[in-house]
Amino acid sequence: MNTIIAPSLLAADFANIQSEVNMLNQSEAEWIHFDVMDGVFVPNISFGFPVLEALKKYATKVLDVHLMIQEPGRYVDQFRAAGADNITVHYEACTHLHRTVQQIKDTGAKAGVALNPHTPVRVLSEIIQDLDLVLIMSVNPGFGGQKFIQRTFQKVKEAKSLIRESGSSALIEIDGGVNLQNAPALIEEGANVLVAGNFVFSSSEPLKTISALKNQVKS
Ligand code: DX5
Ligand code: ZN
Repeated sequence: MNTIIAPSLLAADFANIQSEVNMLNQSEAEWIHFDVMDGVFVPNISFGFPVLEALKKYATKVLDVHLMIQEPGRYVDQFRAAGADNITVHYEACTHLHRTVQQIKDTGAKAGVALNPHTPVRVLSEIIQDLDLVLIMSVNPGFGGQKFIQRTFQKVKEAKSLIRESGSSALIEIDGGVNLQNAPALIEEGANVLVAGNFVFSSSEPLKTISALKNQVKS
């Protein structure tokens, strides 16, 4: 299966956000990853509905919205209305995860659940068949530019087994510290979507970096 590259806008130049999105439109990336933080679930605040609405007007890629917010069910409809194609919520942030996942699906968006580094994959056993995406955090959520946690490889393997055994069609997405060093092994273990923030936007030629990530993955 073709691996999907999802550059994270968190690492983009916010003063030139339109040109950054235009660059992504021309790139080999299929998705644009949009990190929403509330300063409660994670110790940082990023951006929300107005920025997503503005981007939706000119982004030609799938908008992959990662909600790092407490009880995200309160805002699912609004993120969908603002342009989200995929909505991923954190297992740790939802008291009624099943309800929140159904709520996302009812809007017509793809539904994802994210797991923090300390959360085992097995907690998804009762919900995996309802999911379009399993997002495995390979850093602690809240900031870009952190070091990739090596244990992630094992979690990808476990997620792959859970998906296979349950007959789910969920994709496995990896978020945090992804680069050309760890991408091939992630794909090898079963990852389908790679989020990359700093690795793309801190490079001198982001288009070539996205392409390198994609081609590395293909080879
Ligand atoms: C972290 C975010 C990530 C972040 C990844 O809380 O969920 O999406 O932007 O950035 P890098 O690739 O720089 O680790
Ligand atoms: Zn993210």
